[in-house]
Amino acid sequence: MTEKIYSPDVVIVGGGVAGLTVALNLAPRRVCVITKNNLGVNTSSSWSQAGIAASIDKDDSNEKHLDDTLKTAKGLANKEVVEKIVSESVNVIKDLESIGVQFDKNPDGSFNLGLEGAHSHNRIVGSKGDSSGIEIMRGLINKVKSSEYITILENVSIDSIMHEDNTIYGVIGRFTDKNIPNNHVVIQSSHIVLATGGLGGIFANTTNPRSSYGEGIALAAQVGATLTDMEFVQFHPTGLDFGLDPTPLATEAIRGAGAHLVNQNKERFMLGVHPEVELAPRDVIAQNIFKQIDMGNSVFLDCRKNIGDDFESKFPQVYSYCVKAEIDPAKDLMPILPVAHYHIGGVKTDLHGRTSVNGLWCCGEVAATGVHGANRLASNSLLEALVFGKVVAQQINNEPFKKQIDKITSSFIRTYKEKTRSKIRARKYIWQLRSTMMRHLGIVRNQSSILKGLTEIIRIERESRGLSAKLNDMILVSKFIIVGAMKRTESRGCHLRYDYPNEDPNFLKHIDQSQETLIKDLENIQSKSELFIEKSFAN
Ligand code: SIN
Repeated sequence: MTEKIYSPDVVIVGGGVAGLTVALNLAPRRVCVITKNNLGVNTSSSWSQAGIAASIDKDDSNEKHLDDTLKTAKGLANKEVVEKIVSESVNVIKDLESIGVQFDKNPDGSFNLGLEGAHSHNRIVGSKGDSSGIEIMRGLINKVKSSEYITILENVSIDSIMHEDNTIYGVIGRFTDKNIPNNHVVIQSSHIVLATGGLGGIFANTTNPRSSYGEGIALAAQVGATLTDMEFVQFHPTGLDFGLDPTPLATEAIRGAGAHLVNQNKERFMLGVHPEVELAPRDVIAQNIFKQIDMGNSVFLDCRKNIGDDFESKFPQVYSYCVKAEIDPAKDLMPILPVAHYHIGGVKTDLHGRTSVNGLWCCGEVAATGVHGANRLASNSLLEALVFGKVVAQQINNEPFKKQIDKITSSFIRTYKEKTRSKIRARKYIWQLRSTMMRHLGIVRNQSSILKGLTEIIRIERESRGLSAKLNDMILVSKFIIVGAMKRTESRGCHLRYDYPNEDPNFLKHIDQSQETLIKDLENIQSKSELFIEKSFAN
């Protein structure tokens, strides 16, 4: 066998904030962290701007943070999990400071706390204005690199989780650099932690790196893990409409600092819509921007009066994008559009990050811990990743150490290799899928758009069958979103259906799915689809 084989105690797939936090808290267990790119490159964590929500101010409290989170989540958050992350928020900040992360402070040494939508208090702890993700990742990476227990495998893409009898025993993947001879890599371990991030990459407009396409969800689903809340995809109201892909984010903290939302007629269209105006919950803002766009209007952030010349020092990252687009935030309006930003659903976990498959753990965006309900409160996601990263590590450390049973055989690897295909011709289908999901399963949905989306995804699957593992994962994940969106016949949080515009108390529940339920669900939907087509002809 020429493949490289590793046998760490724990394998962590994903090198963002969640994955690195797990790794750092597992010592002295031997850990292998696998990243798809170079460590720290193209992760949503590094791209996050505003920071971490923490009730750190003397006039703030865990109870207020809890209330804001629950109110925003529209009845679907798990209170116990929210209490857990909220009560750990101050410790998480202290942990990061202890590894050298420098947060923004006032001259008196107190934290310079930012404000975002639906927070009743300034509580966003950030670093270098809008560079929080970069600075937090810098601290974590430095610490990880100095650990003797952690091996980093960079530029490796995982294709399968090896499993038997609802129990995992390793992962198999390959170095993405084709020039590496025998580029397959096999990592056997009785604990796998998926920390692969989100799935914005299946939508045409997203703030996520393109490599975030729901790979972790597909990997987990393929070994039978239960998924939940797949329909809840959160759109960020203010992506910078500068024609770039992925879309750069204009952090919500810009509105927290006083920027207004206006259309081309300089009308503040949020006035009279919500008492918090531009700081209403994210779903309300995104949907109202969408309405403006649907009416043929253009939408802008107006930072001229309330931020003006301070923009560059307060938001250096966003400013750098503006400079490239030849826009001066002190003088010009900034064109924006809502973009896929965060997936609330994912692999269902318990309070300790455990999934329904033995030995498989999840944390960060890929996990659905129940903390965000139907709508995530801004800046709660880094907090969740940091808290659950630690929780998962503690749980694994509590498990009795299992000696790795050598199950890897040459014939297994040979069979596996035969499955790997060229991905070049898959590109056109990937673009078709992204455009389909944006158009039909985007900010607003209805039965007709969901069915159109499904028809398109099935056509893409039929025409492209087997072209690339990435495309297959994207198709699978899209189908789960379609099923969730079809089944949830109500509007709640970031799931907005024009044909069911109100919340329905019967849907105060989660929609669980799995690979096993998917086939039946799709058959049901397709039979509805035939009815729908017949009905539309009849009309
Ligand atoms: C932002 O900076 O607006 C993003 C924060 C978040 O998505 O939590």
